[in-house]
Amino acid sequence: MTSILVDQDLCTRCGICSSVCVMGVIDPADENTLPKVNKANEGMCIGCGHCEACCPSQALIFNDRPDEKQRLPAGAGTIAPEEMGFYLKKRRSVRRYTKDPVPKEKILEVLDIARYAASAGNGQPMEWVVIHDPNKVRKVAGLTIEWMKTLRNTDHPMNGYIPLLIGAWEAGSDVICRGAPHLLVATIPDGNPMAQTDAIIAMTHFDIAAPSFGVGTCWAGFVAMAASQYRPLQEALGIPAGRKCAYAMMFGYPQHKIFGIPRRKPLKVTWA
Ligand SMILES: Cc1cc2nc3c(=O)[nH]c(=O)nc-3n(C[C@H](O)[C@H](O)[C@H](O)COP(=O)(O)O)c2cc1C
Repeated sequence: MTSILVDQDLCTRCGICSSVCVMGVIDPADENTLPKVNKANEGMCIGCGHCEACCPSQALIFNDRPDEKQRLPAGAGTIAPEEMGFYLKKRRSVRRYTKDPVPKEKILEVLDIARYAASAGNGQPMEWVVIHDPNKVRKVAGLTIEWMKTLRNTDHPMNGYIPLLIGAWEAGSDVICRGAPHLLVATIPDGNPMAQTDAIIAMTHFDIAAPSFGVGTCWAGFVAMAASQYRPLQEALGIPAGRKCAYAMMFGYPQHKIFGIPRRKPLKVTWA
């Protein structure tokens, strides 16, 4: 059961922990007591850690793996709007990679950032499969082409592209995984209606964080489509029983640098 530890010397009784609690589980301090989890509602806590993160005096520790409490260094994570704009507008889908492998430690650092993405009810349902071996990524691309071949002469919406993609693959061009050395696959439990959205958000965090590590990414839509249907590919991806592929992303070190920002459709906003 959830509990919080409050240091009585540090607690200023400001009430913020109680006010930010998403489920209203924390009773604020009064003249006699420190903030405390309300016994009647404690089962409602979703473990988001807001109470701890928002405590200005560092008095409160969320008592789940308390050793993992991390203090935010003063000023850390503050990015000027212009820098943020350049950083995000500079993100591009990378389809040309060097042959250099991204070390597993670096991949874990990027994934560690993705752990902090929003998820419905703080459910954090994602688990990751990282295909690190470039030969296995190529095998995944080949199986995706095999899946495409099963769609010939059907009314699948992909059908317009399929002959082109198969033709390019057979001519030696990896139009599926783009010769990327690595492939990231987000897996989610079967039967969780929010998990697909959670996985896309977490993978978007990976996508956004990766360039700051010098790593380029590209969403692997064809692989993801094939993985939702094609058993041989599901097996090759090593998706555990009871889980399914939510999406896939290729990544590696980009061959090319970015020198400009491409055009996009004008904003369409309705104020109401
Ligand atoms: C859901 C999704 C699936 C995608 N699938 C592929 C893909 O299979 N192959 C590919 O080369 N690019 C894929 N892309 C990349 C898009 O083509 C790309 O985001 C778009 O052209 C805009 O370019 P940018 O990402 O460089 O801004 C995908 C993007 C998204 C968001």
